[in-house]
Amino acid sequence: MKLQGSNILITGGSLGIGKETAKCLVDAGAEVGITGRDASRLNVAAAYSGAFPIVADVTKSEDIDRTYQEFLAHAGGLDVLINNAGLGAFPTLLDATLDQYEQIFRTNVFGPALMAQKAAGIFINQQSGTIINIGSTASLRGFERGGIYAASKFALRAMTESWQHELRKHSIRVMQVNPSEVATAFNSEERIERIAADNKLRSQEIAYMIKSILELDDRAMIPEFSVWASNPWKQ
Ligand SMILES: NC(=O)c1ccc[n+]([C@@H]2O[C@H](COP(=O)([O-])OP(=O)(O)OC[C@H]3O[C@@H](n4cnc5c(N)ncnc54)[C@H](OP(=O)(O)O)[C@@H]3O)[C@@H](O)[C@H]2O)c1
Repeated sequence: MKLQGSNILITGGSLGIGKETAKCLVDAGAEVGITGRDASRLNVAAAYSGAFPIVADVTKSEDIDRTYQEFLAHAGGLDVLINNAGLGAFPTLLDATLDQYEQIFRTNVFGPALMAQKAAGIFINQQSGTIINIGSTASLRGFERGGIYAASKFALRAMTESWQHELRKHSIRVMQVNPSEVATAFNSEERIERIAADNKLRSQEIAYMIKSILELDDRAMIPEFSVWASNPWKQ
């Protein structure tokens, strides 16, 4: 697809991967909307990226409705949804609480599902569109203390595959990106972005890959791929 003049909605665009992806896509000529819960963080990110800010919590269905109203009123249409907003919690099985399961699944699974449901309505109508789900290498394998986070990302992957089967016949591309560890504010209470060491992934690498798969001709799609740091052990 051509990014110039396209309309792209990114959840969780105030920090990290979402923020850099917004900047990368705005620089390529797209009209981009970003969401996030914290208005001041979101406005700083909007000024940085040139994206249109929509203060909205992906765990609230009324916020999802308003996200689409505000985005469509601003942009006039939708070509791409990027389900990026996500949270982590890494307790052991013995320490995990129902509240943690609920919060992570509302953010990483139910929110993306409801966002995609609305996008799919638009995309089926126009017989075109792209949904990108930001999974994780935790979508592919469990690990110690991963019982909540990895389960949520496995669930997202299952939705990606299922939506591919449902939507491909409408010329809608559904793709999943699975980053390995990226230096961001992910899982930090203070929400302060970490600086990447030379051998660690930055948000820019993920943004570049998202831009690249979007720029593929409409006849092609990448169902899923991972992004690893080349040598994360290097001292
Ligand atoms: N960083 C990594 O190592 C890594 C690796 C693999 C996959 N991922 C995935 O990549 C995605 C982005 O992560 P990141 O590293 O960029 O994290 P981040 O720096 O913590 O950014 C997360 C973004 O999502 C927003 N957000 C969180 N909860 C939200 C909600 N309920 N509604 C709307 N926005 C919400 C945050 O803004 P507010 O807090 O203001 O709402 C922020 O803009 C996530 O899905 C994550 O699981 C990250």
